[in-house]
Amino acid sequence: MIRRPQRRGQNFHGMISGAPQMEALFRLLERVARANVSVLVRGETGTGKELVARAIHELSPRQKNAFRAVNCASFSSELLASELFGHVRGAFTGAVRDRRGLFALADGGSVFLDEIAEIPLEVQARLLRVLQEQRFVPVGGTDAVKVDVRLISATNKALRREVEEGRFREDLMYRVRVVPIFLPPLVERQGDVELLVWHFIEKFNERAGMPRRIEAISAEAYQALLGYAWPGNIRELRNVIEYAFVVGEGEALAYEDLPPELRGEGPRAGRGEREEEGNGERSERQRIVAALRAAGGSREDAAEALGISRTTLWRRMKEFGVEG
Ligand SMILES: Nc1ncnc2c1ncn2[C@@H]1O[C@H](COP(=O)(O)OP(=O)(O)OP(=O)(O)O)[C@@H](O)[C@H]1O
Ligand SMILES: [Mg+2]
Repeated sequence: MIRRPQRRGQNFHGMISGAPQMEALFRLLERVARANVSVLVRGETGTGKELVARAIHELSPRQKNAFRAVNCASFSSELLASELFGHVRGAFTGAVRDRRGLFALADGGSVFLDEIAEIPLEVQARLLRVLQEQRFVPVGGTDAVKVDVRLISATNKALRREVEEGRFREDLMYRVRVVPIFLPPLVERQGDVELLVWHFIEKFNERAGMPRRIEAISAEAYQALLGYAWPGNIRELRNVIEYAFVVGEGEALAYEDLPPELRGEGPRAGRGEREEEGNGERSERQRIVAALRAAGGSREDAAEALGISRTTLWRRMKEFGVEG
């Protein structure tokens, strides 16, 4: 049975981490927040892009003013324009009265555009204008409105590729990513899987109405948690712990309390490459790679996490062609 280690990470505006590259990122966020520049946050799903956007706003001189977020993927082109810039009565069917948009509502504060790569080209032209001139015209309107808004956006796509493929304006790309910020995937943050496992256990222990309290983790479950590739990153880890709280019982989190994908049975046993049925060798290779990543390349730590000796790990790395 494994119990909670002493080591705690830091909590930076809701982001828990003890990894050196996250520490560097937190310091960067503090500096960037002070400057009134557009920031583009990049990272895989569930890596904390929205938390970063909120942290930037909270650390900025605009903290007392509004922070408004919108997911660009969840609106049609016309509705997104109206959501962002508002509309005047009669601008389109259903526009029965004037409506203020996000930019007007966030005047003096920050606007967070999530999934910015999904903005249709028509809306991109309008957005560019706000960034260049600090003014916009509501949909169906004639008069420009002046605003003072800081733009923070996020995407899990490479905007450069969107530009190459004609889906995103190049001039807008430069405007939105004056400072690009890259959030590393969870497995690259050394020690953070362990830290976050215990962090979320503690959170759910405190939550009213939870059917159990967890005080320890079985060695087998620990190995599965530390060896998993976490394609859904921190969000997935949180869900896995919540799942364990609900399906299992007793004070110890058991291997059986983990969802199938962590037990190598699911359709997505590994990041990127999918496991073929009955191909145990491939999933073992993925476990080794993930454990090495999580251990920041330390074979000793990886072997321990996998529950095998260092020589066995070394032998299997040779066998599967895993580079140190
Ligand atoms: N370092 C962290 N420590 C604790 N919780 C975190 C951390 N990073 C993210 N989370 C939590 O994980 C979940 C996902 O974070 P968030 O929504 O910011 O991710 P995202 O990158 O915006 O994901 P998506 O691309 O899917 O929108 C949230 O519940 C968030 O609170
Ligand atoms: Mg998000």
